[in-house]
This record gives sequence, C-alpha cells and structure tokens, in this order.
Amino acid sequence: REHKVAQQDDGSYLVGTYHEIVSLLHDPRISSDPRHRTEPPEQEPGAQNLPPSFIALDDPEHDRLRRIANRPFGPPHTPGLIDSLTDDITAIADELITALASRDRIDLVDDFAFPLPVTVICRLLGVPAEDIPQVHAWTTDIIASLDFDAGDDVDQRRRTALAARDEMADYLGRLAGQRRGHPTGDMLSAFVGNPGGSGDPGDPGAPGDPGDGRPYSEPELKATTLLLLIAGHETTVNLITNGMLTLLRNPDTLTLLRETPDLMPAAVEEILRYEPPLQLLPQRTPLTDIDIAGVTVPQGVPLILALAAGNRDPLRFADPDRFDITRADNQHLGFGSGVHNCYGAPLARVETRIALTLLLTRLDRPSLAEDPPPYRRSPILRGPRHLPLA
Ligand code: HEM
Repeated sequence: REHKVAQQDDGSYLVGTYHEIVSLLHDPRISSDPRHRTEPPEQEPGAQNLPPSFIALDDPEHDRLRRIANRPFGPPHTPGLIDSLTDDITAIADELITALASRDRIDLVDDFAFPLPVTVICRLLGVPAEDIPQVHAWTTDIIASLDFDAGDDVDQRRRTALAARDEMADYLGRLAGQRRGHPTGDMLSAFVGNPGGSGDPGDPGAPGDPGDGRPYSEPELKATTLLLLIAGHETTVNLITNGMLTLLRNPDTLTLLRETPDLMPAAVEEILRYEPPLQLLPQRTPLTDIDIAGVTVPQGVPLILALAAGNRDPLRFADPDRFDITRADNQHLGFGSGVHNCYGAPLARVETRIALTLLLTRLDRPSLAEDPPPYRRSPILRGPRHLPLA
C-alpha cells in the first residue's frame, strides 16, 4: 500500500489507490486515445477501418459523439426511455427464468445472464425481433475472442471476431439507413435524426444543440453502435453473475435482501464495488510527464488504472473486503468517473436490479453447484464463464 504507483515489467505504470485514480480520471493531461502513446498499438485489421469510438477519443471530439449518443434519452425523442423499458426488461427476464424451471441444472451465464442484455440493447436500438438471434450470434463470436485460453486457436478466434464485427457493422448501418426520414422512436432513429431539427428548444437537431445538429456520419454510426453492443454486453453479464455468486456466498445478506427488497439498488452498488466487472482501465496515456504520488510517469507510456483495487482501498472504504449492502457513501469506481464515466450505467443498473430481484424470488432455494466456478480468462473483465446452480 505504500506504493500507490508501480512500474511493471513491460514499462507501463499501474495505479491502484482510490484518490489517485479519481484525480487521474478528471485530469485533462491524461488521454483516452492510444494514438498518443510513444508506441501506439497496431491498428486492428478488418472492422472496415472504422474510426475510433468515443471511448477511445478525447474532448472535444469525444464530447460531440457522446452528446449525439445521448439524444435518444432527451426530448423530443423518447424521454425516460430507460424507465419505460422496465416492463420490457421484466418480461424478457421473466421468460428466460420460466424456461429455467424445467431444468435440473442451470448455468446462470448461458441460460440467463448472457441472453438478457443483448436482447435488451437490441430492443433499445431498434433491431427487429427476428434479427436478434443473429446479433446474439455475432456478439457471442466477438466476446469469445476476449477469452484467452492457452491451447485454443487464438488467431482463428480473432479472425472470426473481426468478421463478425464487420458483418454486424454493415447490418447496423443498413438498419439505420432505413430510419432516415422514417423514424420509429428507437435509438437508431435518434442517431440519424433530422439534422435541421424542428426548432423547438431542446430539440437535439435544433441550432445551438451541443452536437452541432449534425447526426453521425455512416462510419461514426457504425463505430458507436458497435461500441454500445460490445461495451454494454459482457460487463452486464458479469455484473448479474458476480452479483448472484456473491449473494449465494453471503446467505445472511441474501435473507436480508429477500426481507427488504428496497435494499436492491444499494446491493447492486455494493456488487459494483466489491466485484466490479471491469477491473482495469488499460487505455490511459499521459500527454506530458506527470507526477503521481511522488512518481514521475513519462509522457506517452501506458497508464493502467486498477478500478477494482481502488474499490478496496482502505483509505477510502472502511473494512473494504467486507461485502456490506448497507454501506453508506458508496462512491465506487465500478462505472469509472470523469468525462468517460459509463454511458450505459442507468441501463445496467435497472437491468441488474430486475434480474437479481427475479432470480431471488423465482428460483427455488438456488445453491452453487461449484465454488469457485470456472472464470473467464481475462485480466480486464472479471466474471465466471459458467455459473452452475443446483
Ligand atoms: C464506459 C463499466 C454497462 C456503454 C464505461 C467505463 C466503465 C464502464 C468503468 C469507463 C471507461 C473509461 O473510463 O475508459 C460498465 C459496467 C457495466 C457497463 C461495469 C455493466 C455492469 C454498459 C452498458 C452500456 C455501456 C449497458 C451501453 C448500453 C459504455 C460506453 C462507455 C462506457 C459507451 C464509454 C463512455 C465514454 O467514453 O464517454 N463503462 N459499463 N456500458 N460504457 Fe459501460
């Protein structure tokens, strides 16, 4: 704990304390764009050489693209889009749980946590029901390439993932094209909305709109929709699964939550602190030499921010290794902080609260069939690959 910043064997610097991570996430001298590295990562082949998505850009470009992505959530498009989705999410989750009832053994990942977020985000974007299985298949191929298991054909998996990304980008581009001039109230319609606007105050297309009234260009649209599908999928799967695993390991908390369902929002926040799906932010780069807790980190080297360590920092959280859903002031780093804080946090929160509430009420005395369960092999994402329940 004396070493808040450590240089690693590969030359990158790792920061693992709460205060330093938050300061860096709010510091304009720290870039999210890996092209500012002294040794920039190789450009990935395939994926149609799409431009970087806004998670890997700095302001003002990041701000412009994120504001367009926010349009579906403001007037005049669909105010309260997430709230209005509650019934839809409950219905999708309910259907998946009903299908579980007929099985002796359940894998919570494959049978529930994996299909739920992809179906929800497809509905939000406006993917027609008959195409959801195809989008599901593409996302499965893309996410499989994040797992690196020795012995498997990593190159082949990468090629499959890139091909899936290309096909999905083309598909989403075509779908958005159909919305041009024929809006249907979904996210894609808002992304390609009328750039002139109606002139109403608050109309995202109106003059003075911080997005400049311009909708996404075709490549920007593809890059953004791919980002939403990928950034929002595996993370939500892991939050639901890490949540159920942690609750089953803490039967007193499980009982408390069953007796006091109003504690569910606080429980989801504590799961995000205690077992955050995104353990590290691997992409930051200092634009100039910078002093962090007495260590000079040179311009252009990779800077890794360990959110999961910040969430267990005893200088910030009392008794940090204790899972406590009644914790006051739980400002965890599970969704990051600063201008890049998670765009999908409201959706992930609603989805996980509904998913866990239904699992706790509908499953009959679930228990872990294996503890610990097998984990996905990734240094960045943490979550079981399977979660067999008895
Ligand atoms: C950004 C976590 C769900 C879309 C982030 C960041 C974190 C995070 C830590 C900050 C990245 C950075 O600073 O570089 C999570 C977790 C989720 C979740 C733990 C689920 C439990 C979602 C969902 C969506 C989404 C459902 C989409 C619908 C995004 C996007 C960004 C982002 C677009 C980039 C924001 C920006 O650069 O301005 N997420 N996320 N996330 N997340 Fe999430």
